[in-house]
Amino acid sequence: TVLVVDFGAQYAQLIARRVREARVYSEIVPSSMPVEEILAKNPAAIILSGGPSSVYEAGAPTLDRSLFEAGVPVFGMCYGFQLMAQTLGGTVDNSGAREYGRTELAVSKPSSTLFEGTPAEQSVWMSHGDACSAAPEGFTVTGSTDVVPVAAFENDEKKLYGVQYHPEVMHSTHGQQVLEHFLYRGAGLSPDWTTGNVIEEQVAAIRAQVGDRRAICGLSGGVDSAVAAALVQKAIGSQLTCVYVDHGLMRKGETEQVEKDFVAATGVQLKVVDASERFLGALAGVSDPEQKRKIIGREFIRVFEQAQLEIMREDGPEVAFLVQGTLYPDVVESGGGTGTANIKSHHNVGGLPDDIEFELVEPLRQLFKDEVRMVGQELGLPDEIVQRQPFPGPGLGIRIVGEVTKERLDLLREADAIAREELTAAGLDRDIWQCPVVLLADVRSVGVQGDGRTYGHPIVLRPVSSEDAMTADWSRLPYEVLSKISTRITNEVTDVNRVVLDVTSKPPGTIEWE
Ligand code: XMP
Repeated sequence: TVLVVDFGAQYAQLIARRVREARVYSEIVPSSMPVEEILAKNPAAIILSGGPSSVYEAGAPTLDRSLFEAGVPVFGMCYGFQLMAQTLGGTVDNSGAREYGRTELAVSKPSSTLFEGTPAEQSVWMSHGDACSAAPEGFTVTGSTDVVPVAAFENDEKKLYGVQYHPEVMHSTHGQQVLEHFLYRGAGLSPDWTTGNVIEEQVAAIRAQVGDRRAICGLSGGVDSAVAAALVQKAIGSQLTCVYVDHGLMRKGETEQVEKDFVAATGVQLKVVDASERFLGALAGVSDPEQKRKIIGREFIRVFEQAQLEIMREDGPEVAFLVQGTLYPDVVESGGGTGTANIKSHHNVGGLPDDIEFELVEPLRQLFKDEVRMVGQELGLPDEIVQRQPFPGPGLGIRIVGEVTKERLDLLREADAIAREELTAAGLDRDIWQCPVVLLADVRSVGVQGDGRTYGHPIVLRPVSSEDAMTADWSRLPYEVLSKISTRITNEVTDVNRVVLDVTSKPPGTIEWE
């Protein structure tokens, strides 16, 4: 394992991803972890991330010198580089020599471990106030910029390396190569970490954890819960039961996909609960978005709990485990616990004993989203599940502006299916993040169709591109594709006589309309 010591500000996650892209397994540890504890994990190499601090700030994170003396290869980046320089006796000046953004790095030792085979001049991404002016003793300076005399150094004998810039970001054109040089040449690691290893490891771990008891898993139709379920199914087979709550707010073909394709691919034991009437009943007369969300969330939990209860009443070993599709970013963001969390749940529903506790099974805790997709693929899940775009839990319920009714849902389902079909046919699925299709149920406009006047509803297309859904831009879809979607929707969907395009980025608009 390569340990990435996190000095804050999101860099560590990106570095961990890049290391895994180099097919070496990596994990993140907080900079507050004592050096003995870091070393006790027996890391094959250590990377010190960048961070927002200055080594001169009072209270800035520091590192014990012993980290560099344990014989473990270390690569410092940005703040990690400066900390390494300062700790080992180099000079870091608080000179006001700021450098932000794209800079040219001049490689001064082309045969160095990190830079061999990369251009003498390369674009790198900088973001720092302080600068290193003298490398520690025993180190060779391997690169500089106009502003920073020591922008990269190494002590090959001690396996210590550092760069002032951020090799993990795309703007550093040879960053990945430099990182791989550290891993393969500096630390002598081999690129042999694969999703196949993950599956084998997890299957063994799940078997050990669950033993001969039983587990349940809620399926949402999304990628994470599907892959988590498939992995647990591979490990414990019929000891797992999946529960899929059909709230009637799914898109066309979605429930069938779970019922048929997912079961066919995994052989999982599935309990489908058709609760559409219950949800529609609870949503009747409601058009406030927040109220809709609350009702859907509440009903969902009730139905799920009822299904759990039924499964637990069936003959068989104790149902002691709940499978969840928690991903690595969630783990890191919530402070990086070690996976022993116990959640106490479901005591509020009539009929369940007060003291039921589920132990969590979270087989995706180490993985990033793209790795989850790879695992899913390797487990034989169909592309329609593995490459699925995000779809909100409350489903089409929050894509009808106005009251949710069966007729409106049917209409929106048709329009959405057409839009998805045409986007797929045009090969655009990977270019867009998602494309909500929204029915403005309380709006009508005048149209003319055939020989007559119509007074129908508009459908909104909301194609967006995004990296993480926190921000988004509206997708510039080809006019021919938009035209085809518009023509088909107005022709094929009764009561819709207008299709409009949402050209708002996020912010200010959210991706969904409610
Ligand atoms: P917004 O509308 O907040 O959406 O820009 C950001 C992303 O989250 C999805 N989304 C949800 N996903 N439950 C979910 O599982 C929800 O309640 C929910 N609301 C929004 C949305 O589709 C987009 O990808």
